This record gives sequence, C-alpha cells and structure tokens, in this order.
Amino acid sequence: MTRQTHIIGNWKMNQTVNDIKTFCETLQNAVSNTNCVVGISPQAIHLSLLKELAPKGVIIGTQNCSNKESGALTGELSPVAIKELGIDFTLIGHSERRAIFQENDKLLNEKCALALKNNLKVIFCVGETLEEREKHSTNNVIKEQLVNGLKNIDLKYQEQLIIAYEPVWAIGTGKTATPQQAEDVHEYARTCLSEMGYNKDEIIIVYGGSVKPSNVNDLLSKNNIDGALVGGASLKASDFSQLFI
Ligand code: PGA
Repeated sequence: MTRQTHIIGNWKMNQTVNDIKTFCETLQNAVSNTNCVVGISPQAIHLSLLKELAPKGVIIGTQNCSNKESGALTGELSPVAIKELGIDFTLIGHSERRAIFQENDKLLNEKCALALKNNLKVIFCVGETLEEREKHSTNNVIKEQLVNGLKNIDLKYQEQLIIAYEPVWAIGTGKTATPQQAEDVHEYARTCLSEMGYNKDEIIIVYGGSVKPSNVNDLLSKNNIDGALVGGASLKASDFSQLFI
C-alpha cells in the first residue's frame, strides 16, 4: 500500500481573520492540483472560520485536545466538542506543549486515547532535544515517547494515527535535520511501531522542523518520510502551496 503524502500546517498562535481570508483564497488552486493530503491546524478560536473558508478537501485540526470529555478545565478543548464541530484531527505532544505546558507522557497518552475514541485523527509528535541528540540518545527518546504515548491504545486506531518526528532543535530555528538524519529516525520509529504491533508499511510518519520550499523535495524523497508538519512556512499560502509535491 502506498502511503499518501501529508502536508500539515501548524499555525501555532499566529494569523488574524484577514490573514486567514487571504490565505484561503490563495490556496484554492494549489489544493485542487495536488494529490497530497493538506491539513491546517489554526488557533482554536479560528477553527470555525477556517472550516468555512478553507478549500474543499483540506483537513482541519486543533493544536491540543483535553484528556477529559467535559468538566472544570478552564482553557482546555474537549474532544467531543472538537468532533461535534466537524474537525478532523488534533495534534498531540507537540514539543511546545511538552516543554512550555509541561505535558508529560502519561497525560499525552490519555489525550491520545480519548481523541482516538472520539473519532479524531491524532498527529502524535515525538522528538529529541539538541542535548539528547548530542548524547546519542535520539533513538531511546523516540522509542520511549512512542511506547509511553501510545501505551494501551488499541491497534484498531492505526488508520486514525499519524506520527510526526520533530527534532526539537530544528523547530523554528531554521536548522533542518538533513534528509538522511530524518530518514534514519523515521526508519527507527517505523521499526519501533512495528514492534508495538502497527503495520510498518501503512503507518504514516511525517517530518517537522524548519521544512520549507527549498528543502521539502529532498526530505520527501526519502522512503520513510511521508510528509511534513510545517510551522513558519505554513503561514503564507504562497510558501505553503510550494510544499505540495
Ligand atoms: P517550523 O515548526 O516549521 O517553524 O520549524 C514546525 C512545528 O513546530 O511543527
């Protein structure tokens, strides 16, 4: 089975209403001319607007999703409410959530389980810090994050699950992993996932970390890289659409 290329924009806490209107108008053509799955993850406050304006076929996701369906959790997003709005996916475990909001493996595991149960696709992010890479512990970190984050999750959810390998040192820094560095980790992650029972030929693993028009082709030419999770280069439709290869 061929794995479809996924190009997902993570807008983080960026974009105004006007930016979104311009973005959607400009994106229209590119989306109708690509075979890639194109997705965007805006700030939660813009989900409905983006859903209304995004070209047909673009999947829309949140950047976070609670580990509870409802309750006294000010500021959180319920997976039930996300699904009710017709949203397709959620990011879970982005390194900014792990580092700034102190989300640990246990919490991320609960979030994954509940999002999947509520029929959302989950883009589960893993990645090592620069310090961990320099200590040669990249593979250990990736394995630990996968094993802990996906603990006790039924394999029947495989089709709803996408893994994003995002080395922390490459996010928003302009430093990209070389295609070979990324490929090596993707291959290793695929092996770990296969040991956990996932179908290694089918599970989608995208790369994230300073992906841009000038490096996307080399990254996506690698066998184990099935797409990209893109921050900075997803903010302008003219850059973002150059990533649909
Ligand atoms: P970047 O962000 O493309 O700006 O490095 C990627 C991400 O955080 O997902």
